[in-house]
Amino acid sequence: MSKPRYERPSLVRNVVGRMNKAGLRGGLTPTEAVETLPAERLVAEFGSPLFVFSETRLREHVRRAREALQRRHPDVRLCCSYKTNYLDAVCAIQHDEGSLAEVVSGMEYEKARRLGVPGEEIVFNGPMKTRDELVRAVRENAIVHTDSFDEIFAIEQIAQELGIRPAVGLRVGLDVGVYPRWDRFGFDLANGQAMQAARRIAKGGKLRLGGLHTHIGTYVLEAAAYGRAAAALSNFAGEIERQLGVRPTHLDLGGGWASCNTLAGQYQSGALAPPVETYAEAITTALLASGEGKSPLIRVLVEAGRALVDDAGTLLTSVVSTKRLADGRRAVVVDAGVNVLFTAWWYRLNITPARPVTGIVEDTVVFGPLCMNIDCLRESVQLPDLRPGDVLVVHPVGAYAFTQSMQFIRLRPAVVLLDTQGRAELIRRAETLDDLVGPELLPARLRRAVELADHGQENGNGPAAKNRLKR
Ligand SMILES: Cc1ncc(COP(=O)(O)O)c(C=O)c1O
Repeated sequence: MSKPRYERPSLVRNVVGRMNKAGLRGGLTPTEAVETLPAERLVAEFGSPLFVFSETRLREHVRRAREALQRRHPDVRLCCSYKTNYLDAVCAIQHDEGSLAEVVSGMEYEKARRLGVPGEEIVFNGPMKTRDELVRAVRENAIVHTDSFDEIFAIEQIAQELGIRPAVGLRVGLDVGVYPRWDRFGFDLANGQAMQAARRIAKGGKLRLGGLHTHIGTYVLEAAAYGRAAAALSNFAGEIERQLGVRPTHLDLGGGWASCNTLAGQYQSGALAPPVETYAEAITTALLASGEGKSPLIRVLVEAGRALVDDAGTLLTSVVSTKRLADGRRAVVVDAGVNVLFTAWWYRLNITPARPVTGIVEDTVVFGPLCMNIDCLRESVQLPDLRPGDVLVVHPVGAYAFTQSMQFIRLRPAVVLLDTQGRAELIRRAETLDDLVGPELLPARLRRAVELADHGQENGNGPAAKNRLKR
């Protein structure tokens, strides 16, 4: 039997109206393992902090969404939203499950091509596509959704130069009751711009009309809004056919389905967000009931990102130090901050200890390691008495945390994938200083500083450094 662990006694202020140790507060379930692998073992092997992705969970989420849609509609394809998480392994798993790629930049486009995705299976969205990116996309028959008239004009010119007539779609802006509206993207339906754009593409003589795309927002908890969006896109497709005599090739309902994460100001846990089946039902029911219920049904694309990926990602982080703040609150500093968990600013991420808790738990502030006051992962979370080296498990962090992570003060940590057999594989090594300074070019006239740095042990103050400075 192992020796019981000593825990420092602590005095906890009794706050009137709140549960105290005589109430229900003591219970806290630790997260000892990610899948079957102990969190502490993963950190011992791969270092801390550490992103851990579960292949099993990712596949399960993608399959469940795909089946929910395909059970209700004969021609639906999921798209892997690259910006949500463009780690190669994460995208490759989704492509292996049959998802197309959805990209919003040339860099993401190239990433998809390197993963073996052919141009015609890449949906190219976004408000900025350079001329070179557009040339490549139309040459490779990518599914391009234009965002502005300027972009349509640019593609017309490219088409003329290349002597081709590519299919080009458009992003449609809709008011389906989701506010604030993301009306900076695409062509508004209500003010007639979307029809103008469709007419220009279909009747301008240089392009062919592709599909209609919309993306009504993100973390949209009201699944019915997708029913309204699907009906609006479908009716618009019917109107295009009547007025212009062409049928759009597909309807792309975008992403934005809520994940199991909990928004910072949200009372109800994100675990109670609508399941993927509810979104699928809203979309397919509206499509089948709308003008597009005729055969053959128009192809439908869905680009749900966070709803499929968030739950598959976990971050393991270790306690650096513990302290009492001026107002008496307990605080811990951990080795991962908003540099790798940007999403902590708008989500109430779950933070649990990786070891069983025996003592009293207390409201704790969790700070990151950055020398910045804003580096706070949670203002208040129930945690036991912790000590340096203790591992904490942060979940869910699969969506956006990695793609939005930054090399601010600290370098990005390693990422491992737990495969379906429960084995851990490194899918991105921890960054080194060379990854940061590799692209830098130091002007020759400043090189002396480098010579000094080469003698780092002197700290720039040793006799040799002083002599060199005099020269
Ligand atoms: C065009 C487009 N499609 C899909 C997504 C994925 O969104 P989400 O992760 O909210 O599902 C986004 C994200 O903003 C987007 O802009």
